[in-house]
Amino acid sequence: MTVIISATLPEDLLAQVKAIAPVIVVPAGTPPQEVVPASDRHAVTGMLCTLRTRVDDALLDAFPNLKIISNYAVGYDNVQIDRVNARNVLVCNTPGVLDAAVADLTFGLLLCLTRNMVSLHEFVRAGSWKKGPAPLAIDVAGKSLGLLGMGRIGKMVAKRAKAFDMDVCYHNRTRDEESESQNLARYVARDELFEKSDVVSVHVPLSDATRGSVGARELGLMKTSAYLINTSRGPVVDETALIEVLRSKRIAGAGLDVMVQEPLDADSPLCGLPNVVLQPHVGSATVETRRAMIALATDNLVRALRGETPKAMVNAHVWGGNIR
Ligand code: GLV
Ligand code: GLV
Repeated sequence: MTVIISATLPEDLLAQVKAIAPVIVVPAGTPPQEVVPASDRHAVTGMLCTLRTRVDDALLDAFPNLKIISNYAVGYDNVQIDRVNARNVLVCNTPGVLDAAVADLTFGLLLCLTRNMVSLHEFVRAGSWKKGPAPLAIDVAGKSLGLLGMGRIGKMVAKRAKAFDMDVCYHNRTRDEESESQNLARYVARDELFEKSDVVSVHVPLSDATRGSVGARELGLMKTSAYLINTSRGPVVDETALIEVLRSKRIAGAGLDVMVQEPLDADSPLCGLPNVVLQPHVGSATVETRRAMIALATDNLVRALRGETPKAMVNAHVWGGNIR
């Protein structure tokens, strides 16, 4: 058996994998079927990859004995899950270890937007401070935060918002009784979330059900003073509709860590809008969190290769433990 590593793996973790199986290193984002010679493909039973590797029929056809894909991310929208399920390929991911980091970035964007931190930074740098006082921002205390999605990350954002005395509500497919009983967040209907929140923050995974689900209709329900934050996946939001409401000031602004096209082109309309704060998909991008993610991704891979049950499986129903 051979393993493809298509991510930057620290030496100690790479050594753990090499102790079990020969490794073929593929640059992150390069389709492995384009670089692994045909003669080596049949031996490949495992792969560790990033979001930049598209797992589709082309990849699965090229590696017919692939049994385990360890995704170095919690989201797995890069994987065509119906295709891997049809072939009984196990997919693992990295839930839990990045929740705080993503929630921190979300709250950072929230504060940047409400306190105008980016434009005030420019105000100081441009010497405008000497010419007169800075424009006033708004408080977060007492404002309402609407969380679309109440999974692990949504809950972490709720905790931060509570500490800032915000009124937190959420909408999710399933009610989260625990968060409600802990007074972390109130459940509201989906439209009400958009209508009433001062800040709407998106925390749902990208799937066929969520693609474009924050569209012109939802954005049109928002208050003109409200902000939208997205640290989940770009395509959950209809970006064309978002650009339109930002241009027309139909909403106050947006904080985006994710976009439809990543990396974002500098000539994207999003880069020219004054009421947008952008980040380059860095929700989990801290030294500590990325280390925890890559360690979990490696552990998932190593366990599966040993026939042990991995800690974080996306499609556990295909797991039979018979990799070898
Ligand atoms: C990052 O976007 C992740 O899904 O881990
Ligand atoms: C992994 O590389 C990620 O983008 O989370």
